[in-house]
Amino acid sequence: MTVFAPLPAPSPERVATGRRYLMCRPEHFTVSYAINPWMNTAVPVDLGLALHQWESLRRTYLELGHEVELIDPEPGLPDMVFAANGGLVVGGRALGARFTHPERHAEGPAYQRWFERAVRSGLLRQATVPLATNEGEGDFLVVGETILAGHGFRTDLAAHTEVQELFGLPVIGLALVDPRFYHLDTALAVLDDTTVAYYPGAFSEGSRQVLQRLFPDAVLASEEDAAVLGLNAVSDGRHVVLSERATGLADELRLRGFEPVGVDLSELLKAGGSVKCCTLELRS
Ligand code: ARG
Repeated sequence: MTVFAPLPAPSPERVATGRRYLMCRPEHFTVSYAINPWMNTAVPVDLGLALHQWESLRRTYLELGHEVELIDPEPGLPDMVFAANGGLVVGGRALGARFTHPERHAEGPAYQRWFERAVRSGLLRQATVPLATNEGEGDFLVVGETILAGHGFRTDLAAHTEVQELFGLPVIGLALVDPRFYHLDTALAVLDDTTVAYYPGAFSEGSRQVLQRLFPDAVLASEEDAAVLGLNAVSDGRHVVLSERATGLADELRLRGFEPVGVDLSELLKAGGSVKCCTLELRS
């Protein structure tokens, strides 16, 4: 009699769903101040290359069948390209951002004006001005019907309550402890409504336990992949757009049935941003 070893469980069929994103062309992008450890004002930025890299990210989304809305970049706001920080949009309702650093303060009202125009044009249902300091989807990530919320560097704990009250969804606070991973979206990627990938070293001990409880099957990223901002990724449930430098993470995603799509955003990395930072999801 031949006894066959059990086959490994097949990874589930991953299903992509169409998304609508908001992006901001990096026309005024530069590194003229340093508000995170990635930024060094002595390192020059190639603006032409930044524009080209950003354009290929936009084209990638379009080729995957997603819609991309654009907000006009404003002079003097070099980080405005990082649209994820401009707000949080769930169920057609937007909560604007209130930035921590004075260098980015004016971005809050700029994104707010876009949300208000989107309400007038029927693209969104509601736009709310925030009370507490929050950096939008940089620190708030929606996983199914739960919102994960980072704190420690940028977003204030009071904003977690504000988000929970506004959207009526449970908000789970997570403490970030490594300055390289100053926003939640630099340390954790949402892959679908129940699956996340994260780098444990970016979180406090207690928050690590919370993540382990909530997502026992999570993809755990290595420090190497996290340190090229590989977790700053955008997934449509099947395709995961991420830095092409995060090769270990891409392999792991493939094993789990996802399709990694590598992009090069080396210029934007000089400001501490990658794929997700450039992308705000407009959930209807
Ligand atoms: N230079 C920007 C900052 O430090 C980068 C923002 C990146 N955005 C993000 N969603 N993580 O604020």
